[in-house]
Amino acid sequence: QPRGAKPPLKILLCSPRGFCAGVVRAIDAVERALAKYGPPVYVRHEIVHNRYVVESLKAKGAVFVEELDEIPSTDAPVIFSAHGVAKAVSAEAQARNLLAIDATCPLVTKVHREAEIHWKRGRRVLLVGHSGHPEVVGTMGQLPEGAVVLVESVDDIKDLCFDDEQNLAYVTQTTLSLDDSQEIVSALQRRFPSIIGPHKEDICYATTNRQAAVKEVAPNVDAVIVVGSPNSSNSQRLREVAERAGAPAQLVQGRGEIDWSIFGNISSLGITAGASAPEVLVEEIMDAFAERYEIAVETVSTADESVSFPLPKELRAMA
Ligand code: F3S
Repeated sequence: QPRGAKPPLKILLCSPRGFCAGVVRAIDAVERALAKYGPPVYVRHEIVHNRYVVESLKAKGAVFVEELDEIPSTDAPVIFSAHGVAKAVSAEAQARNLLAIDATCPLVTKVHREAEIHWKRGRRVLLVGHSGHPEVVGTMGQLPEGAVVLVESVDDIKDLCFDDEQNLAYVTQTTLSLDDSQEIVSALQRRFPSIIGPHKEDICYATTNRQAAVKEVAPNVDAVIVVGSPNSSNSQRLREVAERAGAPAQLVQGRGEIDWSIFGNISSLGITAGASAPEVLVEEIMDAFAERYEIAVETVSTADESVSFPLPKELRAMA
C-alpha cells in the first residue's frame, strides 16, 4: 500500500432506512401550513424526533412548544406531532379555539382507535411500550386516567392483577423492538390466555423493515452506524438490534458525533437511519468515511416500501 493511501472500507447500506411515510407526511404538513398560513406555525413537540429536521423547520418559521399553554391567543395554526396526542390536548385546543392540525401518523391513530374499541367493549387495555415516550403518553391519553396499564418488560407482568382476567386486550407502541415485544406478548398470553391482541401488529411496517435490514447486515460488518437522534425510539431500537446481531453500533446525529475509536480501524461498516433521520445526514456520514477510507458502497435491500399517507385534511386542497 503506497504511503498516504487510504485503507479500503466496504459500506453496506441498509435498505429500507430513514424516513417513513408518517414522517414525510408530518414534515410536509408543517411546510404546507407555513405556505398556507405564513409563519408562525406552532408545533406541539418535535414534529419528528430529529434535531436537523426541527432546526430546518424553525428556520422557516415553525415555533416548537411542549404544551399548548405556551402558545399565545392567536390565529396561527398548531400542528400536533407524528407521535400523537392525548384526547385532553385536542380538547384544550378546541376550548381555546386554536386551529389544530393533527399530524399524528395514521398508524398511531389506528392504535388509538383499537384501544378505544377495546375499552368500549368493556376490556381492560394493556399498552406495551416505553414509559414517557410521547406516543405512549398519547395512547394512554385516549382513555380515562388510569384505564390503560403500561407494560414495559416481561418483569412487569408478574405484578399484574385484574378482577376480570377474561376481559383483557393489549396494544403496543409502533416503534418497539420486534424481538422484545414478541417476548413480552408471549409472556402476556401465557399469563392471561384469553387476552386479545391486534388483528395486525401495531409495530409499524417502517419499524419492522428497518430492523429486518439491519439484522441482515450487522453480522457481516465490523461495526454499524445508526443515523438518528437519541430521543428517537425506533433509532434506539435499530442500534440494539445491530448490537444483538453482533456488531458494535453507535447512534449518531451527524458526522461530528462519530466515535473514531470504534470506526477508525475497520474494514466493513453497516449504515442505517431511523425513520425520522433525513438522507442528507446519511450522505454527510458517508462523506466523513470517504475522507478516511477508500469506500465501496453496496446496498442491502430486504424490502420494498411504497407506503404514503394523505396530508391532514386542512392542508389537502392546496395545489
Ligand atoms: Fe408512523 Fe411508523 Fe413512521 S408509526 S411515523 S410509519 S415509524
